[in-house]
Amino acid sequence: MTAKIINGKEIAAKKRIEIGEEVKQLKAKVVIPGLAVILVGNNHASRTYVNIKQKACEELGMYSLLIEMPEETKEEELLAKIEELNGDPKIHGILVQLPLPKHIDEKKVIETIIPAKDVDGFHPINIGRMMTGQNAFLPCAPYGIMVLLEESGISVSGKNAVVVGRSNIVGKPIGQLLLNQNATVTYCHSKTKDLKLHTTQADILIVDVRIANFIKAEHIKEGAIVIDVGINRNEAGKLCGDVAFDEVSEKAGYITPVPKGVGPMTITMLMYNTLKSAKESLR
Ligand code: GUN
Repeated sequence: MTAKIINGKEIAAKKRIEIGEEVKQLKAKVVIPGLAVILVGNNHASRTYVNIKQKACEELGMYSLLIEMPEETKEEELLAKIEELNGDPKIHGILVQLPLPKHIDEKKVIETIIPAKDVDGFHPINIGRMMTGQNAFLPCAPYGIMVLLEESGISVSGKNAVVVGRSNIVGKPIGQLLLNQNATVTYCHSKTKDLKLHTTQADILIVDVRIANFIKAEHIKEGAIVIDVGINRNEAGKLCGDVAFDEVSEKAGYITPVPKGVGPMTITMLMYNTLKSAKESLR
């Protein structure tokens, strides 16, 4: 079998047109969706991601505010900035780019963002609402994966879904979203004894371990749907995922590439969440 490629770039572009249309309609009501992004320190990768988020905002006609703070910023200074943005009516979404410098408590920072502006979907209130199937901001990468599956005509209900990786940002929430849609979910992680035993049972395999080419053809079932969240560089310095694309795409039914897979959808869902927050601010 040769896998169908799930083209995240194309699906993201289609969704962004829809979001852009809604932004225009909102502007007629004098509300411009606004996203504040806080970047603390000088992490090169973080700066690149923040620039991509800002550019996406601008392309969709949203208001984008970048707040750069130096590496040595005190925790209370960052918390005070968040409090200020919590009360700013022009701002509908607040995103603090992670990771933060070690002297700053990430959990405290996330919990200081009011849940109504937590467009990352990281606040425990949004996580709790997601778990109980209530209206919530869903974390962007997992949300993007659910949209990719839906747009590819893949039904999740009743399928065996295996998640490799258990981060708070991707692994844990994607398992929950799949469960909410009636998948049977298994989580695998670094302490899992026999990884292959589990992954070869997967109708849907989600991988986020940040190790280049970690999942090989031997790990997957013939015809499986393989979603690769990893972003790595191989020995040649080329961007690649956690899945050995060439060999796995010979065996899988569907596969997301890296780049142009999950990445563009993650940014798109951030835009979607910011628009949702702006709409909800009108209620
Ligand atoms: N760092 C890596 N991914 C993310 C993300 O989705 N949101 C934030 N705030 N930081 C990140």
